[in-house]
Amino acid sequence: MIIDNEHELKQLQVIGRIVYETLMLMKKHVKPGISTLELDAIGAANLKKYGARSAPILMYDFPGHTCISINEEAAHGIPSARKVEAGDVVNIDVSAELNGYFGDTGATFTVPPVDPRIQYLCQVTKKSLKAAMQAARAGAKVNQIGQAIEKTASKAGFTTIKDLGSHGIGRSLHEEPHFIQNFYDANDQRTLSEGQVITIEPFVSTGAETTTTADDGWTLLTGKGNYSAQYEYTMVITRNKPVVLTTLSA
Ligand code: CO
Ligand code: CO
Repeated sequence: MIIDNEHELKQLQVIGRIVYETLMLMKKHVKPGISTLELDAIGAANLKKYGARSAPILMYDFPGHTCISINEEAAHGIPSARKVEAGDVVNIDVSAELNGYFGDTGATFTVPPVDPRIQYLCQVTKKSLKAAMQAARAGAKVNQIGQAIEKTASKAGFTTIKDLGSHGIGRSLHEEPHFIQNFYDANDQRTLSEGQVITIEPFVSTGAETTTTADDGWTLLTGKGNYSAQYEYTMVITRNKPVVLTTLSA
């Protein structure tokens, strides 16, 4: 959506704060022995506290309130009896709706002892999100986001996952501009508008470029031996740097 008044901005800030707070609360519990179902219940209770509804359930009938993906899972992992173990790479993605407005945020957490290469992967992915936000300005091409992500990842020797991407958001979880690539697409002529609400969520991997869907019909896998990281903010595009909505300070 493109925001055109203070009320819309306020509503987006409210749901942005709720999803981010939920993510941070779940982060505190990412420790060996907890199951992803238990983690999901902590997130679900926090959303409920505010009367917010899980977007994956609302939009897609997803079998969980949040998406929790471990190691070889890149995204859309279903909360289950799987327990977090030492050395795991855990991605949590929280998206929800309140009063007809949506927020979407995600992050990758590591459980000690952390493989230095994974630590580096996480650092580079965060850096690629920052670089993409530097490129995301009103009037800029949408493909500058993917260009910044790809450049940052490849410089570090990592790949980006081509079948996952960022997206417009606001009155729905996924809206225009649909599918903002994690790589430079010269054919993408779309431009960003002032007040446009989008997510930026780079998916960077140690070697995977695509995902496959697991037998459960939801979980997206990068294949054995490949790890990935994702960090996601919902933000408003301006002439200067984007205004992040998924923050506690909004
Ligand atoms: Co998300
Ligand atoms: Co998203």
